[in-house]
Formats: sequence, C-alpha cells, structure tokens
Amino acid sequence: MTRDEAYELMCQHTPSDSLRRHMLNVEAAMRHYARLWEEDEEQYAIAGLLHDFDYELHPEEHPFWGVKYLQENTDVSDEIIQAILGHASYSGVKRETKLAKTLFAVDELTGLVQAAALIRPDKDIKMLELSSVKKRFKNKAFAAGVNRDEVQEGAQDLGVDMDTHMANVLKAMQEM
Ligand SMILES: [Fe+2]
Repeated sequence: MTRDEAYELMCQHTPSDSLRRHMLNVEAAMRHYARLWEEDEEQYAIAGLLHDFDYELHPEEHPFWGVKYLQENTDVSDEIIQAILGHASYSGVKRETKLAKTLFAVDELTGLVQAAALIRPDKDIKMLELSSVKKRFKNKAFAAGVNRDEVQEGAQDLGVDMDTHMANVLKAMQEM
C-alpha cells in the first residue's frame, strides 16, 4: 500500500474533517521520528494515517475491525498491524517495535498541540511556542481528553524525554 492509497482508504472510512486532520497530524509526527531515526518513513506514515481509520464507523470494534479489514484487503505490513493494535492499550498487544512505540507516544500528544494552536487568536501553529505546549501539558484541565499518563509512558518507552518529545511533535506539525 502506498501513502496515497492509505490516505484514500482512511478518507473513505472517516467522514469527519477533525478525525482526518488527527490522522494527518499523527502522520506528520511519525514521519518526523522516522527521519530522525532513519527508519522507513513510508511505513511510519502509513501507520499514522491508518491507526484510527475505523474509529468513526466502528467505534465499538476499534481497532479490531480496522485490523481485520487491512489484513483481508490490503498488503499492509504486520509491523503496522501490530502497531495499530498496540496503540489501543486495551487490546493487550505489546508495543515491541520502534514504530509501535512511536505511534503510541505521538497519538494523544498531537491532539494537545493542535488544541494549543487553536486557542491562539491567530490559530497559527507556526506561532505556537514550545513553552506554551509545556504549560498546556501541565494544565490537566486543558484538552482534558488527552491522556497525559499515556503520553509520558509512551515517551519513556521510546527513550525520549518529555521536553524533547513535545519539541519534536510541535516541529513536525509546524512543518506540515
Ligand atoms: Fe489516534
């Protein structure tokens, strides 16, 4: 599967702009880390683009519906499949690869960064500073749906300290 095919599949199953945007944000963060580590950028991108593609139409069965679909209808790698399963903690699937760990670490954090950009009067992510992201992260009432514990656990598992992790995700989204 190519990146564009993944994007198309995701859009077919994801009617809302907000969830599409979320997956594009996660794609950007995944690409950033893949480049940093000289890993396979396309694999990282596709994992980011697809990780929630079944969420809107099959919320009760997420991510199992999506994984089954991908296995039966596409050639998506098992590494991506395992990462998609692993990003949902309740699946019980361990995050063993760097790709899986990255997906888990960036998923929720992109939501916080986007929310921090959107409350700016100019709504311009390029103007958003790291200090502001850090402040919002500490303030648990802000974007309260973002699970800080999972983000921290994810960064730790990746071996990236939280400040660096926030800087990386912010930069990735700004560049996109
Ligand atoms: Fe997600």
